[in-house]
Amino acid sequence: MKTSLQVLIVEDSEDDTRLVVEALEERGYQPTYQRVETPEEMKEALLKKRWDVILADYFMPRFDALKAMRLMKDAGLDLPFIIISGSIGEEIAVAAMKAGAHDYMMKDNLSRLSPAIERERQEAVRRSEHRQAEFALQQSEERFRQLAESIEQVFWMKTFATNKVMYVSPSYERIWGRNRRELFENPESFIEWIYPDDRDRVIAALKKLPSQFYDLEYRIFHPDGSVRWIRDRAFPTRNERGEIYRISGITDDVTEQKRADEKLKASRQQLRDLAARLDSIREKERTWIAREIHDELGQLFTGIKYELCHLQKGLSKSEGHRTEDKPALGEKIKSTLDLVDAAIKSVQKIATELRPGILDELGLLAAIRWQTSEFQKRTGLVCRFRSEIQTIPLDRDRTTAVFRIFQEIMTNVARHAGATHVQIQIKEKSGHLQIDVKDNGRGITPEEMADPKSLGLLGIRERMLLLAGETEINGVPQKGTHVRLKIPLQEAEGASVNAALRVKD
Ligand SMILES: Nc1ncnc2c1ncn2[C@@H]1O[C@H](COP(=O)(O)OP(=O)(O)O)[C@@H](O)[C@H]1O
Ligand SMILES: [Mg+2]
Repeated sequence: MKTSLQVLIVEDSEDDTRLVVEALEERGYQPTYQRVETPEEMKEALLKKRWDVILADYFMPRFDALKAMRLMKDAGLDLPFIIISGSIGEEIAVAAMKAGAHDYMMKDNLSRLSPAIERERQEAVRRSEHRQAEFALQQSEERFRQLAESIEQVFWMKTFATNKVMYVSPSYERIWGRNRRELFENPESFIEWIYPDDRDRVIAALKKLPSQFYDLEYRIFHPDGSVRWIRDRAFPTRNERGEIYRISGITDDVTEQKRADEKLKASRQQLRDLAARLDSIREKERTWIAREIHDELGQLFTGIKYELCHLQKGLSKSEGHRTEDKPALGEKIKSTLDLVDAAIKSVQKIATELRPGILDELGLLAAIRWQTSEFQKRTGLVCRFRSEIQTIPLDRDRTTAVFRIFQEIMTNVARHAGATHVQIQIKEKSGHLQIDVKDNGRGITPEEMADPKSLGLLGIRERMLLLAGETEINGVPQKGTHVRLKIPLQEAEGASVNAALRVKD
């Protein structure tokens, strides 16, 4: 089978053209050719179609091979270009090759034509592939640069074995306020600008880098005198044998974020302190009101009761009234006495609900026990109370806090659980007071626990934080909810737990 070949022949002679074409045919080609003899013709031919090879005569009346070659290059083409000349000296031939011709041969000896075309076509394919690869590389480098140089973060790359800096993006100069050249010259120079307290940490993390993920925050000195927070992350790149040969990293200026975090933390702490203070004030007020109601109103009602009793006795002895009125008056006094008894009970109940006296008189354990039996009476739920300890050694403020938390937990059981049984267990475990409340209701869900609107739970957690304690809440669907509180019995070192809970008298 013959190989088809698109040949552009730059030649003024028809005869010579035929000669070349015949030579090609003899050597197994099926050439399709066009002969051009002026630059205009050649330009048009180059535009019109794709050529496999250009064969050019050296001298022509209105054109020559060197010009033709330039024309091809100007058209952005890189085709096999072979000079075929009637007579060409060695020197001219060498100059033509230097100018970019791929080969040259004499018209009377075209034996090399076919192998030259074959070779040059392969060469042209190779050159084109190479150009494409170069172009792709350039494009990908361009994309990399665009990305690396437009991001706010610093992107960097180091060789692994020799610890040479391969690349650092320009953001380095803005964030660190230093020249990138320093880093290329001395890869360790960035360490000098790290805050002294943080330096060892960074060095240690860098040493462990390939085996451990590197992600850390540290401070640096900026030449403008400020201290900045940096977040640095790095990851290894491996070759096909799995060996690490490069480390790449991303470095971020997180100063603003840090500041915002600190502010947020501080303001949360302030809120917590404020809430604790309000709690404490409220507790004091409750105690005061409970006492006033109990003592003042209680005494008043007792006084009224005494007077009424007196009246009742006097009535039965008195002569001054018409006898038929006596029974009616006696009834009135009796029903008023019943009302006064109810009022006395009510006063006691209100005072107790405001702040159970038992809390101050008998302590937390008794108060929880009492609250449990009240709960059972009020809700009809079966409560089981068990304590492994006889007393709970907590001061007044903590006692109150734990009691209020316990009340909230029990209220939740009554309101949300749909339970029939509740178990309350109290014990001491490794220096902690542990209170467990388990119900057999529907079980709290993770969503309910995480819901920011769950203010009751938030209150529990916040109070527990002030006590330096831990809260665990677990729900199992249709099995129930388990709340566990762990409160350190000894005040944690340095914790201003009580200070926050207490209000100065
Ligand atoms: N023991 C429980 N069993 C089932 N669900 C509960 C229990 N305790 C709390 N929950 C759920 O968690 C939510 C949040 O509780 P809480 O913060 O105390 O808010 P509130 O009691 O005001 O609704 C409740 O609305 C309820 O849906
Ligand atoms: Mg609640």
